[in-house]
Amino acid sequence: MEKIVVNGGTPLRGSVEISGMKNAALPIIYASILVQDKCVIENLPNVSDVSNSLDLLRAMGASIRSVGRNAVEIDCTDIRQGSAPYDLARKMRASYYLFGAELGRFHTAHAPLPGGCDFGVRPIDQHIKGFESLGAEVKIENGCIDINTPRGICGANIFFDVVSVGATINMMLAAALTPGLTTIDNPAKEPHIVDLANFLNTCGAQIRGAGTDMIKIRGVDHLHGCHYAIIPDMIEAGTYMIAAAATSGTVRINNVIPKHLESITAKLQEMGATVVEDDDFVIVSSAGSLCRTNIKTLPYPGFPTDMHPQMSVLLCAANGVSTVTEGVFETRFRYVDELRRMGASIKVNGRTAIIQGGGKLSPAPVRAVDLRAGVALVIAGLMTEGETEISDIQLIERGYDDIIGKLRNLGANIRKVYVSDAEELKKAN
Ligand code: UD1
Repeated sequence: MEKIVVNGGTPLRGSVEISGMKNAALPIIYASILVQDKCVIENLPNVSDVSNSLDLLRAMGASIRSVGRNAVEIDCTDIRQGSAPYDLARKMRASYYLFGAELGRFHTAHAPLPGGCDFGVRPIDQHIKGFESLGAEVKIENGCIDINTPRGICGANIFFDVVSVGATINMMLAAALTPGLTTIDNPAKEPHIVDLANFLNTCGAQIRGAGTDMIKIRGVDHLHGCHYAIIPDMIEAGTYMIAAAATSGTVRINNVIPKHLESITAKLQEMGATVVEDDDFVIVSSAGSLCRTNIKTLPYPGFPTDMHPQMSVLLCAANGVSTVTEGVFETRFRYVDELRRMGASIKVNGRTAIIQGGGKLSPAPVRAVDLRAGVALVIAGLMTEGETEISDIQLIERGYDDIIGKLRNLGANIRKVYVSDAEELKKAN
């Protein structure tokens, strides 16, 4: 078992390069199923969700080769429909983009239901509603989804009842090659929705309005290959912004789109941290004394749910009582028990965490319960004097490119250790 050990209490200083956005890279990788040609995708983050997705496409018959640092060439000409291995697909949420991509390319889809972080019930009713509106018939059986189009497939109008990133992406994938006009009303507006539209349009798709209240997709006959670079990861950037403020440090965060960080920047400034923005970097610094605030996570451009646990950790260091209300998922509070082990004073009432800040955290063995919860514990460790040990770090590696190397460059005392099962057992006894 691998663990992260952090010896905290030192301010982070220096600069960090932000990698490509995981949540943009994943749909773009699956979108290459729609293209019977070579696509070169650059600025891919080196994270396990990306390598698992590439392995999954390889297992389905795609030809994939590395073409330089953080770039791959994907050719899905010979991909076999319905052949995704169950064990790989269930490792991540993003494998559900197979539904839309296979439906778009083959007019039929068969794929395992996805995995992903546990935030309570994660229904896919809006995805199904979208596919059915294009004329498809959808069945779920034996842990897999089966989508067929016995009466053909045709563009349609779809109104989503809830704003869903995954359903918006699946609809774009399904509609890009579907004859006629598809409109998506009430879509998600996240930067990765726009990035996917830009990728598909570079391949010859006709998608307009991504990032607005209505997306219009005019189906085309085929898509051609392209070269495309993924946008920077706003959640990775936001995580380093919070780590800088949490350790009373000064960090220059390079390769970002400051507009994507506005909601995070605004909250940090409200709390008393300094954020200086330029074209493609931000500098975050804090003199140490932060004040309380209230946060509600919302779809973009609201405060991102994927920054919720990191922000809760920062609020443990802010003077006064703060609240974090989860407005996207049913529940996202499994990290709270782990933080309490470190002495955090947090109560959860329904969808709101009430955080009594200002006290000091103390080091403890803790567990990453999901991706962002895991990185939040790394920040907690960085804030805390003494040795914090974090287990289940494979969850953090799903979404953070070289987190140990990047934090070490900023002066953190952090390392990855291998602990054998025998040592674990000895400790438990
Ligand atoms: C994606 C991201 C995840 C992020 C989330 C919200 C990926 C791989 N994952 O997840 O990191 O936290 O967006 O920004 O990109 N819902 C329904 N019915 C549906 C679909 C969703 O009710 O058919 C609900 C969900 O339960 C949730 C809300 O809509 O309450 C938002 O979910 P959604 O935007 O779909 O999140 P994901 O695409 O799963």
